[in-house]
Amino acid sequence: MKQQYGQILVTPKPFVKWAGGKRQLIPILNQNLPRSFGTYFEPFLGGGALLFHMLTERNGQKCSISDLNSDLVLSYITIRDRIDSLITSLKSHERNYQKDSKSYYYSVRESNPRSAIEKTSRLLFLNRTCFNGLYRVNSKGKFNVPLGKYTNPNIVNEDNLRAVSDILQASKVSINCRDFEAVLRDAKKGDLVYFDPPYQPVSNTANFTSYTNKSFSIDDLNRLAELCKNLDAKGCHVLLSNSDSEDVSELFSKKPWKVSRIQANRSINSDSKKRTGHFELLIKNY
Ligand SMILES: C[S@@+](CC[C@H](N)C(=O)[O-])C[C@H]1O[C@@H](n2cnc3c(N)ncnc32)[C@H](O)[C@@H]1O
Repeated sequence: MKQQYGQILVTPKPFVKWAGGKRQLIPILNQNLPRSFGTYFEPFLGGGALLFHMLTERNGQKCSISDLNSDLVLSYITIRDRIDSLITSLKSHERNYQKDSKSYYYSVRESNPRSAIEKTSRLLFLNRTCFNGLYRVNSKGKFNVPLGKYTNPNIVNEDNLRAVSDILQASKVSINCRDFEAVLRDAKKGDLVYFDPPYQPVSNTANFTSYTNKSFSIDDLNRLAELCKNLDAKGCHVLLSNSDSEDVSELFSKKPWKVSRIQANRSINSDSKKRTGHFELLIKNY
């Protein structure tokens, strides 16, 4: 479904740049979806590339989306419910940034607003103006990315935000902040669960991204593998993306898992020379 503004047709797309975002892999993910399914679950939501594809291509698709990053989840809710106030707040960030980008960026980075509107506009502003559009927090959960080098960043991006707001309002989407394991309670036979967790490092020097103040450990990966088994036993369709690492291959080496290596291009890496193609795993039980 495209949203119409004047003469422009806007297809809603991720409103944040997110490490591990799947926009470039949508064609291959789409080819790997089951022919039919009930509710679509995305418990490691991030920028929601596949979610927006689902909502655009499948009118009336019921979805349940969640993530452990509370500011990110709040952004989806604020965009859905309070788009006009959010746009006003972002326009104010844009005006201030244009006066003195450096000092304004760091003052916003240090701030700790309380209201949903200001928290969301802070996250979107920082995402548009920080180095590499990366979201990274330290062990205390404090956003710590430096200012990026942009001449004219699109801080408000009003058309896309309104398109996202409209499609979230028009669709049956439940939005929650929670750990991925909670999906087991809600998913039923015939539903589809797409897991796109923080990736296991393929080497000790691979770059690592902290989306929350808790990193994704090998215990979490084991929990995820157990959860996939339980969802399979319930009759759910399970699709999982991950890095081409030994830990992952081993955990999903047996039936019912079908593993394919797919070519991907990771765009968030501080060293542009390392942003080349590489292989990832796509794992499914159908
Ligand atoms: C690779 S990103 C997802 C990217 C997304 N598919 C996209 O297209 O942008 C992984 C997400 O998992 C979330 N996450 C990390 N640990 C989690 C947990 N235990 N439960 C739920 N979400 C978690 C992070 O906050 C992050 O947004």
